[in-house]
Amino acid sequence: MTANTVPDSAQCPVHRPGRDDRKSAGVAAAHFAPTPGSTLVDGFHAARDILRSPKVRQAGASTEHVDKSRPDEISFFFLDGDLHRKRRAAVAGLFAPKTIVTRHRAVMDRTMDAIVARLRASGSHALDELSWQMAVDVAAEIVGLTDSNSNDGLARRVKAVLETSVNAPTKGLGKWIALARTLKRIGTFWNKDMVPAIAARKLAPRDDVISHMVQAGFSKKGMIMETLSYAGAGMMTTREFIVMVAWHLFDNDGLRQRFLAGDEADQFAILEEILRLEPVASFNWRRAAEPIDEASTGPVAAGELLTISIRHANTDEAITGPCPFELDPDRAKRMKVNGPYLSFGDGPHRCPGAQVALHETRVFIDRLFRLPGIRLVSPPEIQWNPGIHGYELRGAIVACDPA
Ligand code: HEM
Repeated sequence: MTANTVPDSAQCPVHRPGRDDRKSAGVAAAHFAPTPGSTLVDGFHAARDILRSPKVRQAGASTEHVDKSRPDEISFFFLDGDLHRKRRAAVAGLFAPKTIVTRHRAVMDRTMDAIVARLRASGSHALDELSWQMAVDVAAEIVGLTDSNSNDGLARRVKAVLETSVNAPTKGLGKWIALARTLKRIGTFWNKDMVPAIAARKLAPRDDVISHMVQAGFSKKGMIMETLSYAGAGMMTTREFIVMVAWHLFDNDGLRQRFLAGDEADQFAILEEILRLEPVASFNWRRAAEPIDEASTGPVAAGELLTISIRHANTDEAITGPCPFELDPDRAKRMKVNGPYLSFGDGPHRCPGAQVALHETRVFIDRLFRLPGIRLVSPPEIQWNPGIHGYELRGAIVACDPA
């Protein structure tokens, strides 16, 4: 596969030689762990061609242990081909640009009003809790988790389920204790959040994922699996991304000023460039269903498991131009590339929530940085979540002038 070489700083004449603006590079390098026995794909063109190829199948997140004989009991993340296309098409409207503007934007603004009120009332707050609230509220509207007793309670229960299931021990007694705890938490989430949402939609269907599942006759297991996939894919990722963006803007006066002065297009360019450098998910995985032999990939045998390194692909000089580790919001336009590069994946499984995530992050960051006296009291501690091969930013405290 295409090797990704660290550039010689002498070859960066137009930028700042040797500069590396990434905050997550160290922790990601220390935990870099492609799946044993797989082939690493680390060049941009090879990675994109694999993700777009009809000859590969989804292989991430324990896909191989999922029983595909009951497709209505599993998330569409695990499906491929026609079945996958149909399941995605059924909910595509929920992610359309028009829906974001006419519907989700109102949820983002409302949530941000509440976040600002909370922060101004207390004077300071944990940043990841504020970003979690935004991520949960927006994804909850898309999924249809809108009939819980309170949004705070929903956010707490989703967090509890995801944290036990993602960080659970995989061996010995610890595995069984964690499994029991996860099942108990799923039971609480089902009773308090999903049952009222399903009942409301049986009476009056709406335009959301749960209404769609009710109409399509999904089983209880199928509904839980699909809902939790959205929670994992949409909530956990966006929480980390918002904190990462804030960290960059607190640390970089020029970038912050550009963001605050910029129009929406320039603000998105800044967000996408940060996401290129700091992809929340480090890997995608695919298994070749038949031989592949593209100029970019070289020969791939049928059955071969491929670990696609998003971090390496996103910093491949063949597509970034010089100084791939420098934060340069004009890069994507200059290189005529899609701004986030491969941070939202590519091909049939490309993240359907990409635009939603960028919009909610823009709304959050724009409002946060216009608060009087906004400052970072303590920076985040950067941790690694081996379950999702991604960074987690915890402990950042922001403060602002009281209301
Ligand atoms: C910064 C935030 C986000 C990042 C970095 C991100 C990243 C990704 C990536 C890399 C994939 C591709 C996985 C693969 O090909 O194997 C993906 C898929 C997915 N994402 Fe996102 N995502 C984000 C936000 C969201 C949001 C807000 C939602 C929904 C509310 C969402 C829902 C999904 C779903 C349902 C899939 C599976 C798609 C499929 O398999 O066809 N994501 N995401």
